[in-house]
Amino acid sequence: MKILAIETSCDDTCVALASQKGDKFLIEKEIISSQTKIHQKWGGVYPTAAKREHQKNIVPIIEKILKNEKRVEGFSFSEKKLTKIETFLAKDGLLKKRLLSFLNNSVKPKIDLIAVTKGPGLEPCLWVGVNTAKSLSYFWNVPIVGVNHIEAHILINFLKDGKILDIKKYMPAVCLVVSGGHTQLILMKDLFDYQIIGETRDDAAGEAFDKTARVLGLSYPGGPAIEKLISKYRNIEISRCRNFEINLPRPMIHSKNFDFSFSGLKTAVLYFVKKQPRKIRKSKIFKVCLAKEIQNAIVEVLVKKTIRAAREFRAKSIILGGGVSANSSLRSVFKKKIMKNFYQLNFLVPEKKFSTDNASMVAFAGYLRFRKFGKDNWKNLEADANLIIGT
Ligand code: KG4
Ligand code: ZN
Repeated sequence: MKILAIETSCDDTCVALASQKGDKFLIEKEIISSQTKIHQKWGGVYPTAAKREHQKNIVPIIEKILKNEKRVEGFSFSEKKLTKIETFLAKDGLLKKRLLSFLNNSVKPKIDLIAVTKGPGLEPCLWVGVNTAKSLSYFWNVPIVGVNHIEAHILINFLKDGKILDIKKYMPAVCLVVSGGHTQLILMKDLFDYQIIGETRDDAAGEAFDKTARVLGLSYPGGPAIEKLISKYRNIEISRCRNFEINLPRPMIHSKNFDFSFSGLKTAVLYFVKKQPRKIRKSKIFKVCLAKEIQNAIVEVLVKKTIRAAREFRAKSIILGGGVSANSSLRSVFKKKIMKNFYQLNFLVPEKKFSTDNASMVAFAGYLRFRKFGKDNWKNLEADANLIIGT
């Protein structure tokens, strides 16, 4: 089957086309239109601007993705349906204009399923994807499934080299989902059987990277910026960092529960920087040392709590997902700890391109959902900014 997938939960407009046959699942095309440059001046995502960008970009991207796809012969164009879509998109001026013109000029592509992120995320952004997907599903009469963004970040780990893994073999698993909006530890007992065992009480891990990077004068998104700075100066001697006596807190690292708290980290960094004489504050080496300590603090807390959860819940696997899982230090610290002390644990990390937001993961999660539960009713499909995994 062929799956068209749409993801607009945050600041990237992502569309993918995938095909499935037996246990083979191939991502044929993916286009991601990043809004990073637009949001850089705010140091974070500005929802109204993000929504407008999605509205501008989504239809041209879908058009490009479907350009050379086979068409369904004998598809009858319906003026009535078009009018209904026009009413239904009344409040989405920009999207309506582009979508109607596209549908007016297009024929039905040979796709069997439309998968779309319905939450969690930024509500105005989610609606752009959901409304687009609903319109296409209705107009072309193609089944639709709504996908949970967090679940998609987890499930993409079960796609390796174009093959669907035997998910049962990895269960139960402890999943750490770390992104700009979420930090959750989820016990996955089986496919579609989840229990949240811990989450952040304030800022997400990605947010901590973004906010502290801003203090360092680095650009948004902060995680990759911090990682790049550290990598560029990886040859500086550790002893030089010792001179600055940087000791950031490891928030909640010893707490008995599996919750996190990262907002204090930004404050600690801010105070520490303010205390320094101007000359030190402005020095490159100081910034690099501080960046390293920020990364270490976040990584240590995440690794420690995840491994403790895996032991307590007798998990067979640890699974990572979300933008922060692209971090090389997080990956390597996990790998080292697991190989040294818990070598029987499976460790699944997404390919780097699948760590940050993408529509391939939505195609894959959508397919697995469709296989198990069938299609959703397009009329009832709604965006839900606070959608909880497993509900
Ligand atoms: O999953 P994602 O792309 O979007 C959300 O669903 O939020 O995650 C984005 C977050 C940002 O906070 C970004 O700074 C962080 O992931 N991130 C990283 C890295 N790449 C992205 N954090 C640390 N290291 C990275 N290499
Ligand atoms: Zn995400």
